[in-house]
Amino acid sequence: MEFNDKTTVGEVVTKDNRAFNVFFSLEIDFCCDGEDNLFKALDSKDTTIEKFEELLGQVKHPVSNKENIMYDTYKKEELIKSIVEHQHKYAKMMMSKIDPLFLGLLVEEGKDCEILFDVYKLFGHMKSDLAQHLIKEETIDFLKIINAKDEAEVDDIVNILKDEHEDVGHMMEKMVELTDWFNPSNNSSEKTKEVFKLLNDLVVDTHFHIHLENNILFKEI
Ligand SMILES: [Fe+2]
Ligand SMILES: [Fe+2]
Repeated sequence: MEFNDKTTVGEVVTKDNRAFNVFFSLEIDFCCDGEDNLFKALDSKDTTIEKFEELLGQVKHPVSNKENIMYDTYKKEELIKSIVEHQHKYAKMMMSKIDPLFLGLLVEEGKDCEILFDVYKLFGHMKSDLAQHLIKEETIDFLKIINAKDEAEVDDIVNILKDEHEDVGHMMEKMVELTDWFNPSNNSSEKTKEVFKLLNDLVVDTHFHIHLENNILFKEI
């Protein structure tokens, strides 16, 4: 895609799924801060546009949206259906899978690695926040968005949803910070490795999920 001085980071991910990997590695937030200007965001990470294009060229396996689906060509009903069927279903499944495993890990290993308690607290917070958020979207907000005639009609809803995304974004950011991107130490147990891998997958998909809503769905209304 062509970049100009108006291009936002959210638009780049929408058009090119390889940007997902590159923004992750540069620690540029493209979902909650999808409106950020691409050039400014790259500048803040001391990266030139040429370097960015070079990094894009090196991506062999985009972590999400493997086929580079053009979600921005979907009608809002189709996009909502896809988000609910994929991202919502996946988040619910992962959160209920991780919870008991993580609690078991605290019982067995928390005494030797107290940081796990802090990570669990953040995960638990994310889980309860997201659980209500997903149900609210599915049973109330998405229906209003589908039926909305214009943006003004759903402005308040969208702002609340965006705020909730931002809250979840902060929790993910703190978990990432505490665990250095869910990177287990060399002597970690198999159980820690398993829980960290699942948390990593949930966090990666949740970023993509928020991107689909903030940068595409909410723009289409
Ligand atoms: Fe959602
Ligand atoms: Fe959402």
